[in-house]
Amino acid sequence: MEKSVVSDALDKQKVVVEMIRLLVDEFNCNHQADISQEVGSSAQQTIFSREGEQRQISQFLVDNMNSRRSGLMYLCGHPGTGKTSSLNLVLSKIRKNNNSLLSNNHQLYMYNAMTYSDVKSFALTLHQDLTQGLTGQEVKKLGRSQVDDEDISQLIAKTLAKSSNSQRDEFGNRSKDVHKIIVIDEVDQFVSNEKAFTLLVKAILRGSKSANTNTSIVGIANSVDLPFKKKHSAIAMRDCQLLFTPYSIDQLTDILEQKINSKVPQLPMKMKTKQIISMFVNLVDDRAFEFIAKKVAKLNGDIRVAFDMMKAALSTLADSVSTAKIMPPDNEIRVTYQLLLKIYE
Ligand SMILES: Nc1ncnc2c1ncn2[C@@H]1O[C@H](COP(=O)(O)OP(=O)(O)OP(=O)(O)O)[C@@H](O)[C@H]1O
Ligand SMILES: [Mg+2]
Repeated sequence: MEKSVVSDALDKQKVVVEMIRLLVDEFNCNHQADISQEVGSSAQQTIFSREGEQRQISQFLVDNMNSRRSGLMYLCGHPGTGKTSSLNLVLSKIRKNNNSLLSNNHQLYMYNAMTYSDVKSFALTLHQDLTQGLTGQEVKKLGRSQVDDEDISQLIAKTLAKSSNSQRDEFGNRSKDVHKIIVIDEVDQFVSNEKAFTLLVKAILRGSKSANTNTSIVGIANSVDLPFKKKHSAIAMRDCQLLFTPYSIDQLTDILEQKINSKVPQLPMKMKTKQIISMFVNLVDDRAFEFIAKKVAKLNGDIRVAFDMMKAALSTLADSVSTAKIMPPDNEIRVTYQLLLKIYE
């Protein structure tokens, strides 16, 4: 073989390995979407196949904002069904004010219940954040011994009511008629502290002395039957419940395929040849998609398992191409059913 032909082949082999590894990175997802970190960040992932759920969340918030109403929405579903990331996406759209229906006049407060020892410690933080957010002034957090659960709930209700329509003058210009959105992820964590949590949620929704608080709460958890098991609990006060059903085989296949295709416009220039793009979009064959989708659907549709399987298969493929003495033909550079069988059976 001529020298230039050999080096062309080597170059191509390198580019192909690089291309497969790009996709490995794509499936190397953030395993636990965090509610407070991702909103508004440019690293926001695209969420496929959850448009209906996103619409419902958005509608709930828009309605509350427009009618200056308070309300509680409960999002539930098995792990890895996209609850946190779908909400993140809706919130980041609200923040960017892409949706023309939404008023600019809102503030977001986001928490993960897992990071608090109990409801009181959460309520103290919430009180501090709300006071600072709504007045623009630094305030010290109240000490645990200064207030009981009822006191802190009422203080929060008053703070929220002050920034709503009825008493807008108190805080001056910054705080008129602001709709507050309080997100609590992993909210089932607070169930063991039910009494305090119910007091708090009641105060947020109904205000003190019936003053309107103009506040939406969004709670997220895995448990589907939480509001039914505990009929007088905080979550049972929900105005709206949205179940994220486990991803079906079709949805899983669709998400995996869309994730690959959506990467095409972001490929580096050197990969933007007809040949490489064609290899890229055909890297996984249909039976391989089906194999992964079926396995994961059986496991209640946790998408992270599908991403992990994809990642493992693509890594194996990248290794085998990179160590091959002779570059295999294009149509053999694929994640196949047989390859997955070798890895997973
Ligand atoms: N439909 C989807 N399309 C693309 N990526 C998705 C989709 N659903 C989930 N993901 C990704 O999977 C990961 C897990 O999703 P997420 O954290 O939103 O699930 P969850 O339902 O909140 O899980 P948990 O109950 O464990 O908190 C995230 O990195 C997210 O970006
Ligand atoms: Mg989550």
